[in-house]
Parts: sequence; structure tokens; C-alpha cells
Amino acid sequence: GANPTIDIRFDEAETRKRVPVTVGGKTTALYLFLAQDDVRGTVHVDPPRGKSRLEHMGIKIELIGRIEVASERSGKSEFTSLVRELEPPGELLGARTFPFEFCNVEKQYESYDGINVRLRYVLRVTIARHYNSNVTHEQDLRVQVLQYEPEINQSIKMEVGIEDCLHIEFEYNRGKYHLRDVILGKIHFLLVRIKIKHMELAIIKRETSGAGSATFNEAETVTKFEIMDGAPVRAESIPIRLFLSGFDQLTPTMRNVNNKFSVKYFINLVLIDEEDRRYFKQQEITLWRK
Ligand SMILES: *[C@@H]1O[C@H](CO)[C@@H](O)[C@H](O)[C@H]1NC(C)=O
Ligand SMILES: *[C@@H]1O[C@H](CO)[C@@H](O)[C@H](O)[C@H]1NC(C)=O
Repeated sequence: GANPTIDIRFDEAETRKRVPVTVGGKTTALYLFLAQDDVRGTVHVDPPRGKSRLEHMGIKIELIGRIEVASERSGKSEFTSLVRELEPPGELLGARTFPFEFCNVEKQYESYDGINVRLRYVLRVTIARHYNSNVTHEQDLRVQVLQYEPEINQSIKMEVGIEDCLHIEFEYNRGKYHLRDVILGKIHFLLVRIKIKHMELAIIKRETSGAGSATFNEAETVTKFEIMDGAPVRAESIPIRLFLSGFDQLTPTMRNVNNKFSVKYFINLVLIDEEDRRYFKQQEITLWRK
């Protein structure tokens, strides 16, 4: 009760898509905006319960783009920040509604929730007060950035070999995939003199944050599946078909976001022999949002 209540509502709230976002085990549905979408809505302010008037030193709303790096002492850095004054200093008599809009604001980065890093877009309303602490209210929104199809689109061919023991060649149809794409590939066994017990393929996500000696790398297995159980023979060829659309945690590849972090994806092929020795080969793939 002693504080006014603040509520932010988006225009087109009924029709705008919402996406579930899980942070710290808690899932909320956030409104989705594309990079070029205008952000419009209304702010509703109610004076504290039992009071009909509210004295203030001005009411404003900010659209903030913020990167939060867990390992950095400073923690948060803002890459964009815009302000709209909603009301000059004065007095509110009863509940009020203020429209706001942020038009033609390029939201250049995608929202991201990683292990050590979050990139957030937040609307923050502040009611400034003279003798009291300010009252603030924040509302997250989700931003996705659509990309053009990459021009260069070469297949990936790789070899794994251990002299005189093993020689495998594998091929993926492309090096760049959109988030609902299918990775098609083939593995050829050219020479097999060790006993392979099984073989698996994994997609690894690697998040890098910080800089210098305080660089943090986090690798996360997005998916892993067995592509073969049992020993392959020479001249055998195994097809690979992997649908990316099943994995919500995939994001576009992000290289150097505002000098703060990057997110990269790799296909990792792992062979395990009968003595449990592991052989692997990793290859970066680029993911993009169509
Ligand atoms: C309260 O808000 C005003 C206006 O935004 C700002 O100048 C002031 O620094 C804020 N005070 C505190 C204690 O954050
Ligand atoms: C990229 O390569 C794949 C596989 O070779 C092909 O099907 C697709 O049409 C190519 N796309 C472009 C834009 O070249």
C-alpha cells in the first residue's frame, strides 16, 4: 500500500505473439518484437491505496537495452537507452493513463538468456519523488532480429583419422543453417581397424563472455544422439538427418555482441571404441534467423 502501483500495457497485446522465457527456473511469457517494430502502449498509475493524490517530481518511461554479464563486477551495461517524459512534476489526482511510444528505434541485438550473460530489453517507468525514494516498475520485452539468407553456403567436408587405424570422412550439406532447418550429412568409413562401440553426434553451444583473464567459456550440449551402435565396416556410409526446429535453446550465432559476449554452435562427432577411448571432431556451424 504505501507506494503507487504502475502497470505497463502494450498496444496490440491481444494479437502480439508471446514467447516463453525461462530464467532461473521461472518461465514467463514475454511479448515479442522484431528489430524494426515500434513499441507502443500505455502506463497506468494508481496512487497508493487509501490516498487520492500523489505528489511527484515527474514521471518518465525508458526503453533500455542492457547486457548483464554475471562475471563482471559492474554487471550491467546499456547499449541503448531512450527516455520519454510522461508527466512534468506535479500532482496526480486519482488513477491516470499515459500513452507512450518508441518509434523507429533500431533494436540491433537479439534478446538472449544464457549461462553467464543476458541481453534484455526493458521498459522502465520511474516516478521521481522529492522526499521519498523513487518508484520504478520494469517490464521486459523480447526482441528477435530476422536475417538475410547468407550468400556463401558451402558444404562442410572433414576427415578424422588415426594413422593406419581409422579414416572417416564426413560431410554436412551446408555450413549455415536457419533455426528451423535440417542438417543433412553423411559419414563414410574409409578405413576401420579399431573396434568402434558407438558413435554420437552432438550440437554444442558455446557462450563466451568477459575479456582477458576474466574470459568465461561455457559449453552446453543442446542435443546428442547416437548415430550408430555397433561396429561400422569399411566402405559403409551412414546418413545423418537432424531437425533443428526441435530445440528451443538454439539462438542465431552471435559474434561479438557489443564487445561483451559471443554465442557459437558446433557439430561434434564422437566415436567411442571398445576400450572407451573417445575420438572426436568438432566443426563450427552458423545459425541464423529466417
Ligand atoms: C529519482 O529520479 C530522478 C529522475 O529520474 C533522478 O534524477 C534521481 O536521481 C532519482 N533518485 C534516485 C535516488 O534514484
Ligand atoms: C545452399 O546449399 C544447399 C545444399 O547444397 C542448397 O539446397 C540450397 O539451395 C543452397 N542455398 C543457396 C541460397 O545457395
